[in-house]
Amino acid sequence: MRKKIVAGNWKMNTTVPEGIELAKQVVARAAETPANVGLIVATPFTHLASVAEAIKGSKVELAAQNCADHTSGAYTGEVSVAMLKSVGCKWTILGHSERRQYYGETDEKLVVKTQLALAEGIGVILCVGENLDEREAGRHFDVVSAQIKNVLYNFTAEDMKKIVVAYEPVWAIGTGKTATAEQAEEIHACIRKVLADKFGAQVAEDTTILYGGSCKPSNAKELFAQKDIDGGLIGGAALKADDFIGIALSY
Ligand code: PGA
Repeated sequence: MRKKIVAGNWKMNTTVPEGIELAKQVVARAAETPANVGLIVATPFTHLASVAEAIKGSKVELAAQNCADHTSGAYTGEVSVAMLKSVGCKWTILGHSERRQYYGETDEKLVVKTQLALAEGIGVILCVGENLDEREAGRHFDVVSAQIKNVLYNFTAEDMKKIVVAYEPVWAIGTGKTATAEQAEEIHACIRKVLADKFGAQVAEDTTILYGGSCKPSNAKELFAQKDIDGGLIGGAALKADDFIGIALSY
């Protein structure tokens, strides 16, 4: 059975001391969550080493929110996957819509970043999702399918073991407007089909596909009950340990 995951994307929130405190609060309640539900916290780069300490010995795993598209060298301001690995990161989020929108993250760059992450044994949480105009034009299936193909069709079935997909409709992120369980499920099923077309039914069946966008304890249960939804990528609600754990307890 494919793994369920609840991952917190802290974005650019909390100071380091606040982040350590939040991580400790998550750890304190992590054992309450079902054994088959993985917990991940994706912190700012500055927090990674300290949060790695705070989560040691717990089921909580550490993620970055991005990585460089080069291995090392003269790339001022960038952080390589080897650096992430050296502080105990197991994962990196890639292709979040905020990075696509504000920092020029393209599918081509995401292919390179995914290659580099996998080469270091870092798992990838690849975000995809349509914006409001695309949804209103009825193009959401095409947009999401293209994002999946443009990035993941460059990889192998073996690589897919280290890749999680997160469907995050841009219009639902931080807006309080959650996709309905039906809207989310139909895209998740479509993503699984696009994966099956390239990698075969078993790989598609084994791939964890998360939903993200205004997911909270009050709506997680209905979302997670859908056949193709395997957990959540949580923004705002991940900044409160009780809400984050509450979401994981929806399983
Ligand atoms: P949100 O963010 O839960 O605050 O909507 C989700 C995300 O962007 O990962």
